[in-house]
Amino acid sequence: MAADLTPPADLTPPAEPTPTAAPGAAAPTAVLVLNGVNLGRLGTREPGIYGTTSYQQLADLCRSAGAGLGLEVEVRQTDSEAEMVGWLHEAADRRTPVVLNPAAWTHYSIAVADAVAQRTADLIEVHLSNVHAREDFRRHSVITPYATGVIAGLGPQGYVLALTRLAAG
Ligand code: DQA
Repeated sequence: MAADLTPPADLTPPAEPTPTAAPGAAAPTAVLVLNGVNLGRLGTREPGIYGTTSYQQLADLCRSAGAGLGLEVEVRQTDSEAEMVGWLHEAADRRTPVVLNPAAWTHYSIAVADAVAQRTADLIEVHLSNVHAREDFRRHSVITPYATGVIAGLGPQGYVLALTRLAAG
């Protein structure tokens, strides 16, 4: 008896599977990296103190290091104290861990300190320069009492170390 060569009714190729996370895989943890006043000028701002890494390069470094650590990193910078306070409220409300370089606000902003005090997740204070080896006024931080920890003087690598700590939970 001759073979049945009738094609099957439905020749539509099977649909490509929709890319989804592996079952049971955790969604990447969202982390905010917040940079304060004047940090948008990194790269050209006092390179002898802050180095030649531009703000854009620092932001790229944080995002790529974060991705390697399983974090979804969003990097922001503002020269507005009110905007920074709003971002810290947002982080507190969403329980988002934060890497914060408060820049000059470190030394005098009770408003930023009060916003940091409301944190509901880890918040690591980072400074590119070694603030303890500079002018006296930089040795005091109004933020530190409310931070999980502080990293200073290690340049952009300090941000990566802070992200590594946040990724470790
Ligand atoms: C800084 C140190 C602060 O004293 C200074 O005002 C900054 C940057 C740092 O990253 O080294 O703007 O936070």
